[in-house]
Amino acid sequence: MNPVIEGSVIGGHQLGRRLGYPTANLAIPDDLAVKNGVWAAKVRVGKTLYGALGYVGRKPTVDQNGQRVLEVHLLDFSGDLYGQNIRVELLQYVREERRFDSTERLLQQIDRDKQAILKILTSCG
Ligand SMILES: Cc1cc2nc3c(=O)[nH]c(=O)nc-3n(C[C@H](O)[C@H](O)[C@H](O)COP(=O)(O)O)c2cc1C
Repeated sequence: MNPVIEGSVIGGHQLGRRLGYPTANLAIPDDLAVKNGVWAAKVRVGKTLYGALGYVGRKPTVDQNGQRVLEVHLLDFSGDLYGQNIRVELLQYVREERRFDSTERLLQQIDRDKQAILKILTSCG
């Protein structure tokens, strides 16, 4: 069974929007048995399913003492999900989380993550 996390979207630092990867954030319990890192994901908003880039962790690149969060960047979606209930299914683990020297480096890696996740989503049908 794939991990499924459901909840309402909370505010982040809005940095994702500046990076070009706006994310919807969900609070998760510290002991949630899901590995930190990047995941291929599917997200349901109302009745619509989106492929998504998923991330679980404490954002060591941008946060010193960050809370553990789940973030999803929905593909082919634009809009604001703040306060909405969403359902995230984590399909496949892609890589461990890392602390990058700069947000540019992080962005370059997220570009690569997106390519890997697009391949996974295509093969999942
Ligand atoms: C696909 C993906 C991979 C990510 N990988 C990392 C990572 O390895 N290390 C890290 O510190 N943050 C990672 N992040 C989180 C970003 O730091 C975060 O999305 C960004 O700072 C925006 O956060 P905000 O929504 O609070 O503004 C990742 C985010 C996404 C969407």
